[in-house]
Order: sequence, then structure tokens, then C-alpha cells
Amino acid sequence: MYFSQYLTFFNKSARYKFKQYQFPHVKAIYKQKERMILIVSGTNRPNSNTFKVSKYYQKVLAEKGIDSTILDLCNLPESLISPNSYQKNYTDFQDFQTQIDAAEKLIFVIPEYNGSYPGILKLFVDACAYPNSFFDKKAALVGISTGKYGNIRGIDHFTGVCNYANLHVLPLKIHIPYINLELNKVHHLYKEDTLKFTNQQIDRFIKF
Ligand SMILES: Cc1cc2nc3c(=O)[nH]c(=O)nc-3n(C[C@H](O)[C@H](O)[C@H](O)COP(=O)(O)O)c2cc1C
Repeated sequence: MYFSQYLTFFNKSARYKFKQYQFPHVKAIYKQKERMILIVSGTNRPNSNTFKVSKYYQKVLAEKGIDSTILDLCNLPESLISPNSYQKNYTDFQDFQTQIDAAEKLIFVIPEYNGSYPGILKLFVDACAYPNSFFDKKAALVGISTGKYGNIRGIDHFTGVCNYANLHVLPLKIHIPYINLELNKVHHLYKEDTLKFTNQQIDRFIKF
């Protein structure tokens, strides 16, 4: 490191420490930035493989030193399907909106339902405030299915929605077919090829 670079680094670090000391909320903002990855488990089907894969992604991120949170669509309020949910004073979705707002990067784990992605995932996206929820953020997509296509079509369909929302999608998208054969007893992916490609996706997404 050149002396001038050292000085710049020192100045930045000193400035950050000073800000933390002067303004405690700055520390909270920096901490929030470290926790910027939100994993959206893309179905509300109880005991889904989607949730298991979401947990697996969270585990691998943690092993790489990255904190993440899972947003489980099982927890969506039932009132979301009511016509009242389109009203301005509808508040049951607020906690989810807060999580989306705090996220800088999102990983969507998406099961194949009737050759596409689940309706509940579209309802979720529709409930999020437009355009700020996803604008200029980054996403990685993971498709899973019990059939042989790994939700290729659903991931394509969802990519179209991401494009519309100005959500930048990592080019490396993962498709895991025959998901019932891919998870071991503790619900972790274990096959060599699957580990190689999911790992690659996660590494690229961290740098994305
Ligand atoms: C409503 C519904 C529709 C489905 N449609 C398909 C399909 O079109 N193709 C396929 O390979 N699997 C299909 N499946 C099976 C899912 O891919 C399978 O359940 C897989 O484990 C991922 O979904 P899960 O996260 O809900 O477990 C469907 C499952 C449900 C519940």
C-alpha cells in the first residue's frame, strides 16, 4: 500500500469511527448495510422444498461471512388476498415492506408450479411499493422442481417481472430439477454438480 493510499484508508476509517462516536445511529446504518441480503422463499406451501433450499442458501452465505434474512411467504397475512389490500390505509403488509426496503440484494428461490412461478409470489411483488421496492437493486434467481426442467420457464417469466421493476438479475441462474433427490436428511444440497453451480452463483452474487 502506498503512503497516500494508507492516508486515505486511515482517514476513511477515522471518519467512520468518529461518526459512530458522535452519532450512534450511524453504527446501526452500517450494520444494516452488512445485512443487505434478503432471501425470498417463493411459496407459501407448508414444509416446502423451496424453504429448505432457502435455508441452505442462508447457511452457505453464513459460511462465507455474509448475514442474510429469509422472507418466508408462508408468513404473509391472509388479508393480502382481500380487495382491501389495495387500499392506501392497508397496513398488514408493512413488516414485509420494511424488510424489502432494507434489502440491497435479493435471492429468490422459486418452485415450478404449473410451468411457471407461484401466484403467491406475484401477489407478493404486486403488494410491494412501486417503484422503490426493487429499483436498481440486485437479484439472484434459483428455480426448483420435482420435474425435469428445474423451473426454467418460471425463472424466465420472473426475470421479465424483475426487468420491469428495474431489478438487475445475476446472469447465472440456477435450475435444480428432481429436487426430491437433491436434498439429504438434514435438507442440504449434497450432489457435486449442484454444489459447484450453487457455490459459483453465491460467490458471483456476493461480488455482483
Ligand atoms: C400447485 C403446484 C403445481 C406444481 N406444478 C409443477 C410443474 O409444473 N412442474 C414440476 O416439475 N413440478 C410441479 N410441482 C411440484 C413442485 O415443483 C414440487 O412441489 C417441488 O418440491 C417444489 O415445490 P415446493 O417448494 O412447494 O416443495 C407443482 C407443485 C404444486 C404444489
